[in-house]
Amino acid sequence: MIKGEINFPGDKSISHRALMIASLSLEKSNITNLSDGIDVLTTKTCLEQCGINIKANTTRSISLRGGVFSDPVKQLNCGNSGTTARLLIGLLASRKVNATFFGDNSLSQRPMDRIVKPLSKMRLKIRSKNGKLPLRIDKSELIGNNYQSLISSAQVKSSFIFCSLGACSKSSYSEPIKSRDHTEIMLRSVGIDIKSEGNEIFINKMDKLPHSLNIAVPGDPSTAAFFAASAVLLPRSELVLNDILANPTRFEFFKVLDQMGAKIECISIKNQGGEQVKDIKIRFGHLEAIKINDHQISSLIDELPILAVVCTQAEGQTIIRGAEELRVKECDRIHAIVHNLRRMGVLVEEYDDGFSFRGPIKLRGAKIKTFNDHRIAMAFTIAGLIANGPTKLDNEGCVAISYPDFFNQLGILIK
Ligand code: S3P
Repeated sequence: MIKGEINFPGDKSISHRALMIASLSLEKSNITNLSDGIDVLTTKTCLEQCGINIKANTTRSISLRGGVFSDPVKQLNCGNSGTTARLLIGLLASRKVNATFFGDNSLSQRPMDRIVKPLSKMRLKIRSKNGKLPLRIDKSELIGNNYQSLISSAQVKSSFIFCSLGACSKSSYSEPIKSRDHTEIMLRSVGIDIKSEGNEIFINKMDKLPHSLNIAVPGDPSTAAFFAASAVLLPRSELVLNDILANPTRFEFFKVLDQMGAKIECISIKNQGGEQVKDIKIRFGHLEAIKINDHQISSLIDELPILAVVCTQAEGQTIIRGAEELRVKECDRIHAIVHNLRRMGVLVEEYDDGFSFRGPIKLRGAKIKTFNDHRIAMAFTIAGLIANGPTKLDNEGCVAISYPDFFNQLGILIK
């Protein structure tokens, strides 16, 4: 069983944005409970290379005074982080920085044409290698644009928003289903004129630099999901997750667990920097299978690997469709989920946009291929807790991309 109470490092998406948005301001910003994962460190290092002076007070607390950017002397290494690459390209374009971006093997295979297209429409001089990294931007006179995106991606939306802050006229952006809206919320909190109506946003020309950002980053719900899953799967478990970000564009996993029959109780709700934050108690329960539809995918996208693991213990047929975006994450996550579930004895049917199987299934321990993907590694570690026989990951170290303390915390809470 898993028992106890846990606080998580700050949400990864919000941590990236906090560093970037604070760096726009000439005033001194303070950020606490920043994510200590490698991805966020990557964003910090790239900003420092562009002349932003960031002072680390502790590992998770920093202060900085931004407002003035310089061209980096070296190419910017975005490592494994799609959020760093896509958001920084928009941000630095708006600050008229000349820069080249590259990444690791995984990031170099991920699509960048999804940002090249909208940013080119703002007349950004942007060149990439076949729509992928490495990518170069050059100082450009930007104009506003009204862009209708065919995909729901917060990285594309945020890249567009950041870039539009440097344009001489206003812009708008729409997407099929609303993606996470942390960029809009945070920009509003520092005085930027940006409005949302349903799935459309309107960004006014930025007349003056934003004021400082002072934020305690709420706990990461995508990391909490692995612990919530273990509480749901291991009999007699009871876990309290403190200060979890509960923005509706991020909280679908917990809603789905509730619909499946897990026992989830909200202990308290508060507002932190415009974001909803909750303390939740979660317990073991009998699970019924569920069908996940297109409209739920965006607010559950990062939790699909661990949801797949939870669903192996649910009664009936699990069907997850409309998730083709999973194929272009840190690895092809549909392939990675199907491959590892099969290794553990699940009869899975794979589709272009998802997978299905029937449960409950007694999992057998296996050698897990992580594809060096942090979320695959953590999801199948939890699967290993309910499997017969040992489970071994081919790369444990990759969890540090989002949560270096994962194995330690799990060890403390498992009784
Ligand atoms: C993120 C957006 C999502 C998500 C990723 C983080 C963000 O990606 O999967 O882990 O911080 O904006 P997409 O925007 O590509 O859907």
